[in-house]
Amino acid sequence: MRARKIIIDTDPGQDDAVAILLALASPELEVLGITAVAGNVPLALTEKNARIICELAGRSDLRVFAGCDRPMKRKLVTAEHVHGKTGLDGIVLPDPVMPLAEGHAVDFLIETLREEAPGTVTLCPIGPLTNIATAFERAPDIVGRVAEIVLMGGAYFAVGNITPAAEFNIYVDPEAAEIVFRSGVPLVVMPLDVTHKALTTRARVEGFRNLGTRVGHAVASWTDFFERFDMAKYGSEGAPLHDPCTIAYLVKPDLFSGRHINVEIETEGRFTTGMTVADWWRVSGREANAMFIGDVDAEGFYALLTERLARL
Ligand code: RIB
Ligand code: CA
Repeated sequence: MRARKIIIDTDPGQDDAVAILLALASPELEVLGITAVAGNVPLALTEKNARIICELAGRSDLRVFAGCDRPMKRKLVTAEHVHGKTGLDGIVLPDPVMPLAEGHAVDFLIETLREEAPGTVTLCPIGPLTNIATAFERAPDIVGRVAEIVLMGGAYFAVGNITPAAEFNIYVDPEAAEIVFRSGVPLVVMPLDVTHKALTTRARVEGFRNLGTRVGHAVASWTDFFERFDMAKYGSEGAPLHDPCTIAYLVKPDLFSGRHINVEIETEGRFTTGMTVADWWRVSGREANAMFIGDVDAEGFYALLTERLARL
């Protein structure tokens, strides 16, 4: 079966790193390129981190593009308190040797969607949606050519993680999120509601470490670092591996379940800006625009992740 063509739009971030590694280890997927966006840490670091991750996977052939360095209409909010100063704290890896690809990430998104056959490219944004929304605004003709968007972002029952109401990726650029959620592109949303059910545990992290590989060691070190924040905040045994849920869905969708509902983005709330107003109980009468995922087979998710990481 032909591999599914994807573009990963990312703000690495330890969990982004695991998502990218999972994608590169999965023959079901063909990563056409990686587009970096400002989010967890500034763009200069997210684009560098994306190249570090590609080299760790032995994929210095991949093209990594730098994209937008700030949200469409707001000041950038970053999350060093979660990811550390570098965005990939937990292990020191060598600076990348592979060059950054020529050109802006938004142009790469536009050109690729115009060159590839309509309905054959899936976008996997796992950071703020600035690059995707900017591409849609600049080239409306590409919107109808996108096969599907599988994104990590938002929350409903799990409420917010950066404010009481908003999840980080949506909060950083709510105007961009509104453009994407209203674009009409088929959307699969991995909100905190499901990612908070994909928690690391000591056994799962040791499972990464026991792979005995550079990748296994790096992923275990990243998750050791990454989980300290969520464990302290939520008092949970481990931390949610948010971003890899998008890639796992592409590889093994049966691990997940959700509802096709209406999801709107709050952009003007005094306390709720960045909230994904998910009509889980279908009371609004508004048209459904997203498959909003609420549950995951966590054991199956970690088994897939560990088995695939072992291939790198
Ligand atoms: O709220 C979690 C999301 O914000 C994840 O994508 C994480 O990497 C950060 O970008
Ligand atoms: Ca991310």
